[in-house]
Amino acid sequence: MSALFEPYTLRSVTVPNRVWMPPMCQYSAAPDGPLAGAPTDWHFQHYGARAAGGTGLIVVEATAVTPEGRISPYDLGIWNDEQVAAFRRITAFLKSQGTTPGIQLGHAGRKASTDRPWKGGAPVGPEAHGWQPVAPSAVPFDERHPVPTALTTEQIHEITGQFADAARRALAAGFEVVELHGAHGYLIGQFLSPHSNHRTDEYGGSYANRTRFALEVVDAVRAVWPEDLPLFFRISATDWLADGEGWTADDTVRFTAALRERGVDLIDVSTGGNASGVRIPVGPGYQVPYATRVRTEAGVPAAAVGLITEPEQAEKIVANGEADAVLIGRELLRDPSFARRAARELGADVHVPDPYHRSV
Ligand SMILES: Cc1cc2nc3c(=O)[nH]c(=O)nc-3n(C[C@H](O)[C@H](O)[C@H](O)COP(=O)(O)O)c2cc1C
Repeated sequence: MSALFEPYTLRSVTVPNRVWMPPMCQYSAAPDGPLAGAPTDWHFQHYGARAAGGTGLIVVEATAVTPEGRISPYDLGIWNDEQVAAFRRITAFLKSQGTTPGIQLGHAGRKASTDRPWKGGAPVGPEAHGWQPVAPSAVPFDERHPVPTALTTEQIHEITGQFADAARRALAAGFEVVELHGAHGYLIGQFLSPHSNHRTDEYGGSYANRTRFALEVVDAVRAVWPEDLPLFFRISATDWLADGEGWTADDTVRFTAALRERGVDLIDVSTGGNASGVRIPVGPGYQVPYATRVRTEAGVPAAAVGLITEPEQAEKIVANGEADAVLIGRELLRDPSFARRAARELGADVHVPDPYHRSV
């Protein structure tokens, strides 16, 4: 029996297996015009192929709740009804393959308005569809980035409302899981960490103040996201800075327990992205221990991500109780049928589309 191919139930949703796809930006939407931010044929074939490949749950890439929240002008967005209509085609196809459709809702904050990574990823201005980024404090990510505009309290409340509106639209678009992007140094993570949050009002300073925005977003989203559907939160478990300088793994354990009480069902545990120039000990499964801490110390279901590339490796993580599920990123870019390959190697059953039946 394979633990990796055991179904997993969260609220009313049963995911067919524990091989999941994490959010991965494609930077392939139109930057302006009536279909700005809407998924395209590229997204349809990209997500469709991974669903046909047996992936249990797909978290669609970081999707901006407002145009200024895009990482690049080419990001997906979910701030209007044209975008909702375009997403429906994708969610319907994923469901036809038995894959649970999820979406990551995000706001890039001070890391917004950059070029596509394969064009260098540098910050861009209005001449290249860019804009002035906002953040908790007027502190740039690094010397390449512009100084962001510090948000007023009113603007913070407005963004919280935009997350709730985006969740309502995600439901209308057919998604069954919403994941809030609290990781990688984007807006929610910028509030959490003392490295990027230098505010002196009720949204900065103490742990309680720095976590306030994230908790308000969770409450606003949970209030509109149906009771019977799961809510995920992606966190960077550590900034990889010295204690006292950034967000730490101990903060993560404390905070994720609070998220659970607010109705978050699963934590997607990543690390880093908020401090430039830090050294990260990257290697196979290097972030798994952080998911395990969330699962065992905070008692919250957790998914592991980061250099999980081999079926046996993934199987052990789930079988040993290190995580409830694994997210396979770049390996799924290389091989859209990773789940099917893993099932074959592990002797497990997985969805195979009828037209592919001769390949079993
Ligand atoms: C092309 C690409 C785009 C990504 N976009 C996102 C994103 O939209 N949101 C996010 O939280 N992480 C994003 N990530 C990080 C992945 O979700 C994942 O955490 C990371 O790639 C590590 O997993 P892996 O070693 O299996 O690839 C991205 C990674 C890649 C390679």
